[in-house]
Amino acid sequence: MTNQQSNKETLKTAVLSILEDPLNDQNLHGRLMQIHGLFSELTRVSGMDQEMEMMAAVPSAYGKALGINHAAQCLLDLRRTRKYLQGMQKAIALAKTRVSGRPVKVFYAGCGPYAPFMTLLAAIYTSEELSFSILEINERSLEAAKKLIQALDLKDYLIDSYLADAVTFKVPEADQYDILFSETLDAMLYRECYVPILYNMLPQFNDDIILIPENVSLELSLIKPAVAGSEDRVELHKKTIVNVRDLLGQIPQGDGLPSVFKEVPVPLNSMDDFESLIIDTRVKIHEDIVLERGESSLSLPLEMRLEKPFPDSTITFNYQLEPQIELKYTLEPLGS
Ligand SMILES: C[S@@+](CC[C@H](N)C(=O)[O-])C[C@H]1O[C@@H](n2cnc3c(N)ncnc32)[C@H](O)[C@@H]1O
Repeated sequence: MTNQQSNKETLKTAVLSILEDPLNDQNLHGRLMQIHGLFSELTRVSGMDQEMEMMAAVPSAYGKALGINHAAQCLLDLRRTRKYLQGMQKAIALAKTRVSGRPVKVFYAGCGPYAPFMTLLAAIYTSEELSFSILEINERSLEAAKKLIQALDLKDYLIDSYLADAVTFKVPEADQYDILFSETLDAMLYRECYVPILYNMLPQFNDDIILIPENVSLELSLIKPAVAGSEDRVELHKKTIVNVRDLLGQIPQGDGLPSVFKEVPVPLNSMDDFESLIIDTRVKIHEDIVLERGESSLSLPLEMRLEKPFPDSTITFNYQLEPQIELKYTLEPLGS
């Protein structure tokens, strides 16, 4: 067996083992460390290099793209990677029911140095079943991804590759694709380009394109302290502050992206029973596959303690794209 064949076999065994025993975290850790070792060796990108260029974020038309190191380390965000693999497996099964006589085609916007949702899935599907175009804004990441694709002999799976900003890119022959994969976000939808990328890309594809992740929302909850005899605090879901698909749906056709989306005021009155507010980033990957709180760096919650006595107030959230992408809030006395 050649090195190439043996690497492909290693990948196939690892990916199948993750998918067949998804709740086994020890197995997941071992398998992803093994895959990371192989990808680092084949690309010479480990995610741990100290060079400035490897760490620097890359500016896009809106927001910033992660540096190559951080992008490489995403592979080791264990449950994130496992859930995206599961989501893609389901999405591919759905897309297969819609196409015949050709592979399911994925447009992968923001592939990073390992293009894991191509390279790992190619280990378990044939090129008659699945193919990809990859796009990346970071030149060194794209070079590494292409090197890996070559090293693993996956060129039959590759339709095209583009060095471009997904926020402005016009996709050639966009109607050939069945799935758009763009995991270009961070917790709190901070800084990265998921929203502007969807704004640019989604209208270019067919209406039934399967988007992964399917949607992201920021959810506000109020927290009461645990009652005596219990360790669990009591949570009350208060409001969805941002729902990306709804935000995009509210932009009138032909209008550009707003610098700031509509304000979301939330009255906070009679808060004496509550000790804090929590904002969760809910990443709905595909159908029932969701990243739960704290499972991944993407779904780390933000908790704000309420100092006592907490005056009746309105907290108003604004999700803004300029001057930088972030969720802002202001707190004012109620009714002011
Ligand atoms: C969170 S990383 C994920 C990398 C890879 N998909 C993975 O799961 O390991 C996001 C990648 O998207 C790229 N990216 C972010 N914004 C982009 C944009 N506007 N255009 C193209 N690529 C972008 C980043 O450079 C980075 O490599």
